[in-house]
Amino acid sequence: MAVVYTTTGTVSSPLDLDHQVKGEYQQIQLNGNSKKGMKLKPKVTLTSLTVNNSGTLRKINSVVIPIVYSDKFYKDVLSSDLEEVNKLIYYGDIPVGACCCRFDNLNSTNGEKPPTLVILTLAVLAPYRSLGLGRALLLHALKEALHPTTPPPPIPNKDKPTTRGQVAPSPPRKSVKRALVHVQEGNEGAKRFYERLGFKEIERVENFYSKLEPRHAILMVLDDIVSTLGETLNGS
Ligand SMILES: CC(C)(COP(=O)(O)OP(=O)(O)OC[C@H]1O[C@@H](n2cnc3c(N)ncnc32)[C@H](O)[C@@H]1OP(=O)(O)O)[C@@H](O)C(=O)NCCC(=O)NCCS
Repeated sequence: MAVVYTTTGTVSSPLDLDHQVKGEYQQIQLNGNSKKGMKLKPKVTLTSLTVNNSGTLRKINSVVIPIVYSDKFYKDVLSSDLEEVNKLIYYGDIPVGACCCRFDNLNSTNGEKPPTLVILTLAVLAPYRSLGLGRALLLHALKEALHPTTPPPPIPNKDKPTTRGQVAPSPPRKSVKRALVHVQEGNEGAKRFYERLGFKEIERVENFYSKLEPRHAILMVLDDIVSTLGETLNGS
């Protein structure tokens, strides 16, 4: 008996924006035993940034964000201590979004400058928005900031030569409970997106962007990643 598989909901190229996604699922139609079609949601996966997919990240950012980031930016976001927070997101086998962050004040002992996850870019290709992908990227980064999982590289002993086995492990990165992001003034959709996750508007930063209009940004801060994750994990 012939079995025919058809699929919908995919595009030939991840950045082929002329071909909007037609569905949010793969449809597998079985002709034969069953007349009913089965609808399966594509798998959503997160992948670490590497030199090999850095071009994909650049492409997504350039399509979504009206800022041209430097080569240094793209080099810095590949840093091993950011591996767990900086991710590409795949919808099925298509890379459709990415999140890039850095940590500030990690070694600060000044209570006024707490360790902070700074969200540098968060981008989802337009046809794939409102599917929860942006939220998934951000929640993943917040969770990893709070619960570091990647051990930092070992610190070699400078005084005497060491063999690989003698290299002392460095202390784990601090847990980071605070996050911030700058949202361009007027980007109400993004503001709403961050507010839903508990970010609060703190101040208007004048002339934050040198080559964009409007030039001003809204600084949004999440003071308690724990409560955001708690609320989310409890399903609210
Ligand atoms: C912000 C962004 C990453 C959200 O991605 P996403 O995958 O659509 O996010 P989610 O599906 O998890 O959440 C969608 C919610 O975000 C809000 N939102 C974000 N951008 C929006 C927009 N342009 N218009 C309307 N609502 C928007 C809405 O509240 C929306 O809820 P809804 O689906 O019920 O309408 C995506 O819109 C984007 O890439 N925007 C352009 C770049 C940008 O502004 N980045 C943020 C500054 S760093």
